[in-house]
Amino acid sequence: MHFLVNPGAVTSGIVTVPGDKSVSHRALMLGSIADGQTRVSGFLDGEDCLATLAAMRSMGVGIERISDSELSINGVGRTGLSAPDVELDLGNSGTAMRLMAGLLAGQPFSSTLTGDHSLTGRPMRRIIKPLSAMGARINSRDGMPPLVIDGNPSLTGIDYALPIASAQVKSSILIAGLYADGVTTVTEPDVTRDHTERMLRSMGVDVKTDGNRISLEGGQELAAANIDVPADLSSATFVILAALLADNAEVVLEKVGVNPTRTGVLDILSSMGADIALENERSLAEEPVADIRVKSSELQGEKVDPALVSLAIDEFPALFVAAAAARGTTIFTGLEELRVKESDRIASMAAGLKALGADVTETDDGAIVKGGGFKSGTVESFGDHRVAMSLAVAGTVAEGAVTVLDTQPVETSFPGFASILGSLGADIAAGEGAGA
Ligand code: S3P
Repeated sequence: MHFLVNPGAVTSGIVTVPGDKSVSHRALMLGSIADGQTRVSGFLDGEDCLATLAAMRSMGVGIERISDSELSINGVGRTGLSAPDVELDLGNSGTAMRLMAGLLAGQPFSSTLTGDHSLTGRPMRRIIKPLSAMGARINSRDGMPPLVIDGNPSLTGIDYALPIASAQVKSSILIAGLYADGVTTVTEPDVTRDHTERMLRSMGVDVKTDGNRISLEGGQELAAANIDVPADLSSATFVILAALLADNAEVVLEKVGVNPTRTGVLDILSSMGADIALENERSLAEEPVADIRVKSSELQGEKVDPALVSLAIDEFPALFVAAAAARGTTIFTGLEELRVKESDRIASMAAGLKALGADVTETDDGAIVKGGGFKSGTVESFGDHRVAMSLAVAGTVAEGAVTVLDTQPVETSFPGFASILGSLGADIAAGEGAGA
């Protein structure tokens, strides 16, 4: 698959982007181990979450698909999962693998977690180390997947200081903590997304947050809940970016998750001069949502505050595009974690933006991006959904046609990306084949 984007910026409209990926994964895993029936609406029907869905089904959980975005999960209870008779293939999803490892560490059965080319190259020691300290028995390929988990039903709680800010690692430990003896505590160096804590609370689990320390007592049962998944702010970001870079657009995105542990991107864009307003702020169970109104804006480069990195961790590919379209220079620092995402996102975005004529200098932990706009060209996604979508948005305001190669991974998080941008007036065609 590829995208062919011809010049033609988005105009105006109202859109709803698909459901939040992080919340959808958690709804599947936690709904599966809850007592009773969990109804999920707004579910992300993307490949990453479908991999989690298939994995839960392989462990005996009945999950009915009522529609693309609605599920009914027959929770089997905290100790009701059964041994899978297949390897659990989690595709491209680091979240699925790391959270699932926490879930499986304390089961009375063994399991194997694997994934695609990108996932099997991603670091897993960050979860193996704390889970092992709890008593987990996990074998890996030199710290990378596949993970072979010899389940140990007598885990013990730990008090663990995360060496890096990671919601995936925090969540993995907390989920394992549900199966551990005593209290499990995680201390974060920087605040990361707290969807696990919020969803556990909505299912009746007592999760204590004290500053940057999060604790729960093992052995607590989860009660089924109705989970209405917000639209994904990380997907919304691409539409927001397209509207900002256009000349005269005004776009409203409905029901977007605006959990404060996720909204760093809005703070960074606003500080660069973006006209973004939250309207109709409300709450969907434990998660805050709003309609986001965005108007085309003149962006100004700046030194991006590294304190916002963990609150905008997935949005830097899009922010690199914003920087390349802004006036002046933007300096990104503190982004070393981007090098171990679905691709090395600093390198992938530097390559893509340079191919479109932008002036980008890579640094170890970030980049220096000089504004100046985009020329035509052909760019690689490096198998990374967010790189593909960011560069496609750059194409909407480029001087000539932009082809983005290998766009299949977009299906992991944002099915319908090209049609949503198209519905707002962009000239983007999703084509079969390599497209070169
Ligand atoms: C996620 C956490 C983030 C993010 C990922 C989803 C989650 O990863 O990049 O896309 O759902 O917990 P880290 O917290 O490991 O940086």
